[in-house]
Amino acid sequence: MDKATWAGVDAYFNRALAPPDPAMDAVLAANAAAGLPGIDVSEAQGRFLGLLVRATGARRVLEVGTLGGYSTIWMARGLAPGGRVVTVEREARHAEVARANFVRAGVADRIELRVGAGLAVMEALAAEEAGPFDLIFIDADKPNNPGYWDRAVRLGRKGTVVIVDNVVRDGRIAEARNADPDVAGTRTMFAAMRAAGVGASALQTVGSKGWDGFAMAVLD
Ligand code: DHB
Ligand code: MG
Repeated sequence: MDKATWAGVDAYFNRALAPPDPAMDAVLAANAAAGLPGIDVSEAQGRFLGLLVRATGARRVLEVGTLGGYSTIWMARGLAPGGRVVTVEREARHAEVARANFVRAGVADRIELRVGAGLAVMEALAAEEAGPFDLIFIDADKPNNPGYWDRAVRLGRKGTVVIVDNVVRDGRIAEARNADPDVAGTRTMFAAMRAAGVGASALQTVGSKGWDGFAMAVLD
């Protein structure tokens, strides 16, 4: 089994389960045209995030790491009426592309984009008492995952769902001698989740993005 096979199955699921979605394809095209790195969630993962938002009835969603807003739009589409996504992006150039995508996708009224470093913006949100958020999606620079987790706990409430992207990275997470700062960040975050005693799990995924996975925790 290889990435091409996994991507073929993703393509099959996308075709089998939903009609073509030119609006979402246009977002990815705009991102590519602007030279953004193609590290968005996959279409299947995006749909899944949207379903999670819907299943939890989330009305306040926080995303750390907007990039071009692809995952943001999937989650915005899953919001209950009156719901809102606050999304945080450090790179002004990415944020500009994301803003145009939100307008083009017709969800700009449901999204608040804050430009700044994730930790600083989360601190600001806490100071403003902008929480509690119902669902928090962490998908930014991995060395800061422990800090994002810590602040997510403070911005959440009992029952808040926290999802973290890219916790597997081709299996590197479990390599004993791996010294990659991305891996170290995610491991330290796992230790904090365990120490907090929250219910947490992680699922490996294969697909068009290769072998990776999500962690999920539900706050106490
Ligand atoms: C990278 C980051 C991501 O959030 C992702 O989903 C895939 C790759 C990266 O930095 O390489
Ligand atoms: Mg990611």
